[in-house]
Amino acid sequence: MQTRQLGTSRLEVSALGLGCMGLSYGYGPATEKTQAITLIRAAFERGVTLFDTAEAYGPFLNEELLGEALAPFRDKVAIATKFGFKGGKVDAGLDSSPANVKAVAEAALKRLKTDRIDLFYQHRVDPGVPIEETAGAVKDLIRDGKVLHFGMSEAGASSIRRAHAVQPVTALQSEYSLWWREPELEILPTLEELGIGFVPFSPLGKGFLTGAITESTTFDSSDFRNIVPRLSPSARKSNQTLVALLGEIAAARKVTPAQIALAWLLAQKPWIVPIPGTTKLHRLEENLGAAAVTLSKADLSAIAAVLAKVAVQGDRYPAHLQARVGR
Ligand SMILES: NC(=O)c1ccc[n+]([C@@H]2O[C@H](COP(=O)([O-])OP(=O)(O)OC[C@H]3O[C@@H](n4cnc5c(N)ncnc54)[C@H](OP(=O)(O)O)[C@@H]3O)[C@@H](O)[C@H]2O)c1
Repeated sequence: MQTRQLGTSRLEVSALGLGCMGLSYGYGPATEKTQAITLIRAAFERGVTLFDTAEAYGPFLNEELLGEALAPFRDKVAIATKFGFKGGKVDAGLDSSPANVKAVAEAALKRLKTDRIDLFYQHRVDPGVPIEETAGAVKDLIRDGKVLHFGMSEAGASSIRRAHAVQPVTALQSEYSLWWREPELEILPTLEELGIGFVPFSPLGKGFLTGAITESTTFDSSDFRNIVPRLSPSARKSNQTLVALLGEIAAARKVTPAQIALAWLLAQKPWIVPIPGTTKLHRLEENLGAAAVTLSKADLSAIAAVLAKVAVQGDRYPAHLQARVGR
């Protein structure tokens, strides 16, 4: 697979990374461990060199999984993980205090069975801690060789600028996809100006943009998607229009809807590296196939026309989680 550079500090990774969250957390029961390890190693064998996890995924279980799965070829991959929730628990509130940032780094290094974290993201901006203090803690970790690159997630432009002034940010990881394009307004121009790479999460719309989720799909009771307004059954029903129209474009190109969703992101900027997640080998192969799909100007115009025509229904987060983004 081709590689791309994130940030002016030039973290070079495969054009598509692997989002590993769903193997342990968020989308129903965790995948059985040996199967999960096989999937992660299959991604590496097919050219993936960026693996995305977080302290909060499990919590802790996903980092431990990656540590074991990636150990045989640790030096050939970049591991991205995240700090920022109290005790690693998403529901427990935010903690980006320097002491917590450093404690999480030490614990993550052990779980990941490694001596350095390639990319250490703040998971959400913590309004209780000046961003300069958090960036300063990461700067110390970089000085000590425990972290190689600093990242942020769902941060607003002003926080990105302030953090970047203390410790250059290599990548921002935020939601961006065919049905969530807000980053185009202020975030992408800011990243371009500052030389920061962009890692879109949920690039497949949490599965919806692939066409595999319909109005009648039921999610496991532990699946986060049960509380996502735009994935409520009624929102799914109306949002099928978007998927159907994108599906027509995919069929005409003889590619799949998932490949259109990923190729579209890759076409936006050369410094964008999406991280689709899957627990299934055949879908991994399908998704990685998108790296070889080059959309023409006509394809991009056809997609733009669909996006202009269809209004997506439902918020991407419930209110309590929406309050944590864009700060
Ligand atoms: N920074 C943050 O706050 C944040 C938030 C969310 C996610 N993330 C990161 O971003 C990664 C990706 O995001 P995501 O997992 O939320 O969403 P996503 O990649 O948009 O979608 C993943 C979902 O799509 C399904 N899927 C994948 N490929 C498919 C295909 N070709 N056809 C049909 N269905 C397919 C998967 O199900 P199967 O497993 O059944 O294939 C899974 O349920 C995560 O793993 C995580 O590392 C970060």
